[in-house]
Amino acid sequence: MTILRIENLTYGVEDIAQCSEFLDIWGLQKNGASDNSASFKTFENQHIHLRPMDDPSLPPSYEDGPTLREVVWGVDNHAALNEIEAELSKDRDVRKDDDGTLHSCDDRQNYLGFQIADVVKANLHVEDFNFIENIDRVNERSWPEERVKPIRIGHLVYSIEAKDYELASAFYTDRLKFRISDQTKDGGTFLRADGSNYHHNLFLFHRQGSHPYFNHVAFEVSSFDQMMVGGTNMLKYGAKSVSGPGRHSLGSNWFWYFNNPCGGDIEYFADMDRMDDKWEPRFWDKAPPYARWMMGAEEIKG
Ligand SMILES: [Fe+2]
Repeated sequence: MTILRIENLTYGVEDIAQCSEFLDIWGLQKNGASDNSASFKTFENQHIHLRPMDDPSLPPSYEDGPTLREVVWGVDNHAALNEIEAELSKDRDVRKDDDGTLHSCDDRQNYLGFQIADVVKANLHVEDFNFIENIDRVNERSWPEERVKPIRIGHLVYSIEAKDYELASAFYTDRLKFRISDQTKDGGTFLRADGSNYHHNLFLFHRQGSHPYFNHVAFEVSSFDQMMVGGTNMLKYGAKSVSGPGRHSLGSNWFWYFNNPCGGDIEYFADMDRMDDKWEPRFWDKAPPYARWMMGAEEIKG
């Protein structure tokens, strides 16, 4: 099997209009709306669906209030879908839609699905940058666009109980072939899908005393400028910054987190570490510092 990326996310929310406005300001492309639903997409065609939280067609949640109700992972082909169906059917229900999409859940009652990825490559180039005699840009100003482009959904994060945290990640490594990039006894497990080279597409976050909840989803932007412009837009809009901006230790990415009315937090990130098969998983008794640098002292909560 090869899992490539997060394909779509479905939130159960309290106020569709408010959440739609928030995701629009965030920079996502609106892809359809009705009185009781809305859909958005990234520039590489990953979808974010909003539904009323009491919609009976949504998977159940262990959380009260608005939250993520399902993540669908994008795979490379039908053979991968068949393999996942056979694997998960060994010990849990797997439901299949007419179009072949699978629905099931992990060991911690986080609902997940699988479908063939429908990737649209964003045609973008890295911003020009002038530094001493390395000159990309002559006779041109560097004025960033006012509306940012979240290009990809890069990762999502579940907070889990610290107890048996290794078992929680074993479901993803043993059953779905995710690989561990870093794992810390006091922080959690950073996992990347077998078809991805990002430091993490999934982080199972634990702290002593932490309880299960959906923590955040992260959108990749092209540059530090884009992250700062996007974050500044969100502050002007009235969104609550919960951590950052800064640069993480594990993953090395720039980050800026905001509270998301759809559920959990939402993150802009850029410049994350990438891993190939030569990367040996790192196991830490004590996690390195949350950030190499950051504005303010607030850490995202586990
Ligand atoms: Fe993150």
